[in-house]
Amino acid sequence: MPDKTRSMIIGTGSYAPEKILTNQDLEKIVDTTDEWIRERTGMQVRHVVGPDEQNSDLAAHAAQSALASAGLSAAEIDLIILATVTGDSGFPSTACFVQEKIGAVNAAAMDIGAACAGFIYALDLADSQIAAGKAKRVLVIGSEVLTRITDYSDRNTCVLFGDGAGAAVVVPSDGKRGILGTFTKSDGRLNQLLYIEGLGTRVPPSHESVDAGQHFVKMAGREVFKYAVKAMGDSAEEVLRITGLTNKEVDLLISHQANLRIIEATARRINLPADRVFINIEKYGNTSSASIPLALDEAVRSGRIKPGDLLVLVAFGAGFTWGSAAIRY
Ligand code: UT7
Repeated sequence: MPDKTRSMIIGTGSYAPEKILTNQDLEKIVDTTDEWIRERTGMQVRHVVGPDEQNSDLAAHAAQSALASAGLSAAEIDLIILATVTGDSGFPSTACFVQEKIGAVNAAAMDIGAACAGFIYALDLADSQIAAGKAKRVLVIGSEVLTRITDYSDRNTCVLFGDGAGAAVVVPSDGKRGILGTFTKSDGRLNQLLYIEGLGTRVPPSHESVDAGQHFVKMAGREVFKYAVKAMGDSAEEVLRITGLTNKEVDLLISHQANLRIIEATARRINLPADRVFINIEKYGNTSSASIPLALDEAVRSGRIKPGDLLVLVAFGAGFTWGSAAIRY
């Protein structure tokens, strides 16, 4: 066990838009079946933003809910870190839009992009900022509107993604509870297995780029799957090694929800039985950086996480990026 924790989560919140897209809806759009999607991914429904809803709206809802559960006002937050790859616009950061929407007038605000591992990266950064004495009350958010960068003519990807947001309020540790250790890693050599070609300066928007679908997610699913299984398993093992904890002490694994089979493989790597693995992929699909805080909030609110429980968080995403965190809740 580490000598002392540096920061702890004192409140969580989440939000998903009202509109639902079911497997049956997808059967009408592309050549797929409910059976294929359930068997290969574990997904049943996902949430989709309305035409006037933006990433910052979802993030602001989740943030307000996390602040309420932490018993803090937005003005008490001194840092907002928002993990996303689907921000409202090119710039400014979506974190700045959230700052305005919730009235966090005393905060510094920034986005970080680590795709589906974004929430772990953001949590790691919050922990470091608190340890360095540079921040005291940090709002960590994962928020995505993936359905706006999804090609609904590509069955390989369109059945997977959903929209949503989750947030956590992180403050200095009370010495008993908190983040016990974190681990983050990337391998930029594998950037061509999961990416968007456009939406940046390399391929500026043009009629041609839109016609060619360069603003949509592209993924070599089978390849990504193999790397995800390995990296998520490694990450789970690594955070146990760093913290000196054993798998027997872990009360709940909260994994990025990209595929039920990947989550199960990760649990097998650290020998965790199914009752110590949190799964809500059937309700949200893959919401990238939002999936861990969405799951965390649901697990806290449903009573699945109790004070003092040991949590292991694990994620993997485009980049590739991956990482983990061990938390005494
Ligand atoms: O979020 C961070 C990173 N992302 C991930 O971790 C996702 C990792 N990848 C995966 O989860 C899986 O690879 C997928 C769910 C994307 C795909 O599952 P798979 O078991 O790897 O399927 P596959 O790509 O190997 O495709 C198997 C078959 C193919 O047909 P053939 O070539 O065997 O005839 C596909 O064309 O399934 C076909 N297929 C579909 N069939 C029905 C692919 N998508 C669909 C679909 N409906 N939606």
